[in-house]
Amino acid sequence: MTSFDVVVIGGGPGGYVAAIRAAQLGLSTACIDEWKGADGKPALGGTCTNVGCIPSKALLQSSENYEAAGHRFAEHGVKLKGVELDLATMQKRKEKVVRQNNDGIVYLFKKNKVAFFHGKGSFGASATEVVVDKKEKISAKHVIIATGSIPRALPGADFDEKLILSNTGALAMPEVPKRLGVIGAGIIGLEMGSVWRRLGAEVTILEALPAFLGIADETIAKEAARIFDRQGLKIALGVAIAKVSTAKNSVSVQYKNSSGEAKALDCDRLIVSIGRVANTAGLNAEGIGLKMERGVIAVDGDCRTSVPNVWAIGDVVRGPMLAHKAEEEGVAVAERIAGQKPHVNFNTIPSVVYTSPEIAWVGQTEQQLKAAGVGYRVGSFPFSANARARALGDTAGLVKFIAREHTDEILGVHIIGPMAGELIAEAAVAMEFGGAAEDIGMICHAHPSLSEAMKEAALAVDKRALNI
Ligand code: FAD
Ligand code: NAI
Repeated sequence: MTSFDVVVIGGGPGGYVAAIRAAQLGLSTACIDEWKGADGKPALGGTCTNVGCIPSKALLQSSENYEAAGHRFAEHGVKLKGVELDLATMQKRKEKVVRQNNDGIVYLFKKNKVAFFHGKGSFGASATEVVVDKKEKISAKHVIIATGSIPRALPGADFDEKLILSNTGALAMPEVPKRLGVIGAGIIGLEMGSVWRRLGAEVTILEALPAFLGIADETIAKEAARIFDRQGLKIALGVAIAKVSTAKNSVSVQYKNSSGEAKALDCDRLIVSIGRVANTAGLNAEGIGLKMERGVIAVDGDCRTSVPNVWAIGDVVRGPMLAHKAEEEGVAVAERIAGQKPHVNFNTIPSVVYTSPEIAWVGQTEQQLKAAGVGYRVGSFPFSANARARALGDTAGLVKFIAREHTDEILGVHIIGPMAGELIAEAAVAMEFGGAAEDIGMICHAHPSLSEAMKEAALAVDKRALNI
């Protein structure tokens, strides 16, 4: 039996990064991943690379370009005639971007001497024996479970990926549906709803919760609701889904609206994006006595499971289901196995929603601080007063800083606006270094740049903003 210091089950962003870091630290490492591309070949990178972060961002960019060419170039004095959508080319480009990322990981495995096994990994006779495709046995001193997550289905409405779509089908529609229904106004609902609205679909999103985007800061969520409404994204809050039925080429959703009235949404395709669940199927987790907790593998703060020398990271454990969170846990576990003492700071993990405008935040929201009784001060700055945003023609949104009362320590930064997903990095750095709002306010930011809105919002905490 071949043996390794570390065997990683799952080659998504958590697993492949853990494998690379373990190999960098001199540990003999293998990674097992079962994902197959359309050509049947291994497709490393997991949900994120194949049917998540990467293809969704490719389509978001392409659809944004299409919308800009059709509606926004004219205001810049660029007149285009006969703008046409070639969805097949758009989808092919997306697949090429995905394949580049798949191949990049193969290259990185070779470079770092990570042994790759293509197949399903499961625990064998013990926690240190892993079987690939029920045939090949390998032994490991440590096993890292990084098997990710799968979409949650709505009871009575299984995914067929033709009419009722998970993220997989939502990213691969061969034509633009005239009427697209979406259940769940979470991150997938908003990103995928945006893609298909830009490409011409009439999009209606049904959300169970009465508040829109409750995980974001209330100011930002309110602004986002206003902007999405103006874009034509119809969002109904506080609904209760009663039944989903399909005909040959359409779907009907029976639901109750927030006033309790019975309603129906008839559409050509329905995306169900109501969250994801940990993927432990076929792992034989029960065989080695692995403890589960609220549907995920139970781990401590260091990603140790209930079984010695078995670790778990990423979407299959507690915490936000984000690729960069999975990666940080992967690196930290590899370093712990090598005897180091790393730390993952959950408070500085940024979140980004790649709609237009983008929404990004790090740290705590105003409503969380209020509930915890923490004293704070707020400073905000609108992009409408930022010179670069005006030049770009992208002035919707704002930056909001929240700092601790008296000490000025940054507790949260919330952005809706152009390049919010890039701007948020400055806030994460500042928070990681225990920075104060004044620290950001004292830093020279290039002019004209969107980042000046960060400086101005930080100055606004002390009522010192200059350009408003
Ligand atoms: P996964 O990426 O799910 O990878 C797990 C891998 O393990 C898969 O390849 C799977 O096939 C394999 N596997 C499972 N069981 C076995 C087994 N027994 N044997 C062998 N292999 C196995 N996050 C962001 O941070 N930014 C984004 O922009 C973003 N966009 C997203 C868009 C969509 C549409 C979706 C669905 C998700 C998005 N996410 C995003 C979330 C992100 O994809 C996940 O948080 C991330 O992929 C989790 O990484 P992971 O390594 O834990 O698991
Ligand atoms: P989500 O948790 O973001 O949103 C699910 C939404 O569905 C919630 O608003 C919830 O209230 C609603 N919902 C649940 N049950 C419902 C029901 N029966 N009827 C109507 N609404 C219902 O989950 P989503 O969008 O499926 O995404 C899964 C995960 O993938 C997220 O946790 C997210 O972290 C990750 N992701 C991250 C992205 C990013 O970082 N940009 C992009 C896409 C996904």
